[in-house]
Amino acid sequence: MDALVTGAGGFVGNYLLQELLQEHAHVGATKLPKEYIKCKNCDILDMDLTKEYEVRKILELYKPAQIYHLAAQSSVALSWTNPELTVDVNLKGTLHLLDAVRAVENYHPRILLIGSSEEYGYLREGACPVNEQETLHPANIYAVTKACQNMIGNIYAKAYGMDILMVRAFNHIGVGQAPTFVAADFALQIAEIEAGLRPPLMRVGNLEAKRDFSDVRDIVRAYRLLMQHGRSGETYNVGSGHAVSIRELLEILVSYSMEAIVIEQDPARMRPAEIPCIQADIQKLQAVTGWKPQFSLEETLRTMLDHNRRNFRII
Ligand code: GDD
Repeated sequence: MDALVTGAGGFVGNYLLQELLQEHAHVGATKLPKEYIKCKNCDILDMDLTKEYEVRKILELYKPAQIYHLAAQSSVALSWTNPELTVDVNLKGTLHLLDAVRAVENYHPRILLIGSSEEYGYLREGACPVNEQETLHPANIYAVTKACQNMIGNIYAKAYGMDILMVRAFNHIGVGQAPTFVAADFALQIAEIEAGLRPPLMRVGNLEAKRDFSDVRDIVRAYRLLMQHGRSGETYNVGSGHAVSIRELLEILVSYSMEAIVIEQDPARMRPAEIPCIQADIQKLQAVTGWKPQFSLEETLRTMLDHNRRNFRII
């Protein structure tokens, strides 16, 4: 097998599989039994990362040359309510994967561990845009698990000579993302208002936070390029290099609608702790891959909203 994507049943997996199929003949995709993956040219495999024997069985059987480790509990919001699941999947799961690789004889795959900009956490004054050297101050359990995953990746690369590289992905959005994330949530609310399914009132959380948003298609291209050109044991930021406030994102989406929409802050959407601004310094990524984003934020948001409108038969 040329490449295996763990957690391919999630939002990003679908895009990454399509990206990899442009280059590779034999691509594998792991998913949880309850998930569904539409990919007729992939080997689709059930694998629960919390069960080490399942991970090892798949690696022994297929020995993929490249592993994109996407599988994760990826919601910051959910990590506040279910920290144990977040630790089990993101930390123990990664250990299961790396230890299973070590256990398979004569097997030295290239592994890309997907981390998060959340690892940086509370940034010191002047550290935004943030580069990979910055000290990590994670501000929630999800961020802690991703910071630890990065450290474990480093340790295994050095101690066992494994070919592991790490990314810190900044916010990425697109069609198919669950409405637990901000852009997908707002795009859905607007389409529901337009379809007459809810009154013209949008519920929002903290609009002052600034985040670095990319189109998921740009992000998965960066992953593929890093797998090709990145250096073992290194960490790379993957983001647009620009930050916008959630208010600006909301304003772009609302400007696409003809409805007069009232905005209301919902205390349930506010988080116990929030990092004010996260913006990527992407010089390292660009130096090794030449990567540049191809989709603007406006274009991606429009695509997401129009997709919902089509689902509701508004367009
Ligand atoms: N979900 C949500 N819903 N977020 C809201 C809302 C709302 O109604 N209103 C404001 N926000 C703010 C959040 O407080 C946060 O500051 C920002 O919008 C982005 O929230 P999310 O889209 O939920 O993403 P996230 O930043 O918490 O996490 C995502 O990005 C990380 C990379 O920075 C996830 O994709 C993570 O898996 C990823 O690592």
